[in-house]
Amino acid sequence: MSMPIQHYLQFSDLTADDYAWLFERAAVIKRKFKSYEKYHPLADRTLAMIFEKASTRTRVSFEAGMYQLGGSVVHLTTGDTQLGRAEPIEDSAKVISRMVDLVMIRTFGQDKIERFAEHSRVPVINGLTNEFHPCQILADIFTFLEHRGLNSEGMPDPACLAGKTVAWVGDGNNMANTWLQAADLLRFTVHVSTPRGYEVDQAVAGVRSRDSYKVFKNPMDACRGADLVTTDVWTSMGYEAENEERRKAFADWCVDEEMMKAAKPDALFMHCLPAHRGEEVSAEVIDGPQSVVWDEAENRMHVQKALMEFLLLGRVSS
Ligand code: CP
Ligand code: NVA
Repeated sequence: MSMPIQHYLQFSDLTADDYAWLFERAAVIKRKFKSYEKYHPLADRTLAMIFEKASTRTRVSFEAGMYQLGGSVVHLTTGDTQLGRAEPIEDSAKVISRMVDLVMIRTFGQDKIERFAEHSRVPVINGLTNEFHPCQILADIFTFLEHRGLNSEGMPDPACLAGKTVAWVGDGNNMANTWLQAADLLRFTVHVSTPRGYEVDQAVAGVRSRDSYKVFKNPMDACRGADLVTTDVWTSMGYEAENEERRKAFADWCVDEEMMKAAKPDALFMHCLPAHRGEEVSAEVIDGPQSVVWDEAENRMHVQKALMEFLLLGRVSS
């Protein structure tokens, strides 16, 4: 009997124990990269990346990461494949997964990646859907631990997340949903503040209870006492037609220095990027001393290398 394939379609697909492993492994793999150590556990393996939406960080981090692990990459977009000419996603999954070892997809509805995974012979990774962005939150938590949660051996320790508060200011979108899943699994709290009409939906987020998140009308209240303040674009990819309406609705949800002052004095600021200074975040905050957005972006590559290794080889130690 063949083993079920481990996909990574949402944050809740892995256990707290898997995350403890991945954070440690990402630190080891990052050290190897920084010291120019050759590490090619995925030699002869191929990653197919399917992009139905634009990307800078996701593309570069997966592509560079796969090459660094000794593997190769095939880059596909809707426009230059038969996906753009209505080939069923199920047929695409059956074909592509016979030729590669791993697939990363960035697409619209979560149902689409789930259908692909159902028909895939190889693990599938969510590189962002309308509902979730698990690789980003994996990088964000790793970055938080690097700055605020290392153990005595200098390794990221997820136990440090206990009692911590993340303030989410802005849209109840794919990032917000994924933060809720992460808090539920890794036992921290998320304070969510969104304009009316843009709230998080617990059913879409797929969390069992409200124990790990609290909703605030006023973004200042959400930031009060937070260890991390984070936000995202007001208009996500696929929602461009709502841009003008959203700019008005979100005007009071700009993370500025006042909001950062309401958080803990040593609070960090994160943004998955791309950012719009003067909209969801002020230039003073994103370019200021509490911001760790460049570490956050770089860490996408290190955590995804750990993730690809984990999905293809399991818990290796080298
Ligand atoms: N944060 C993120 O996923 O960036 P890209 O859209 O550039 O991939
Ligand atoms: N919420 C944003 C994230 C971009 C990385 C979007 O979906 O466009």
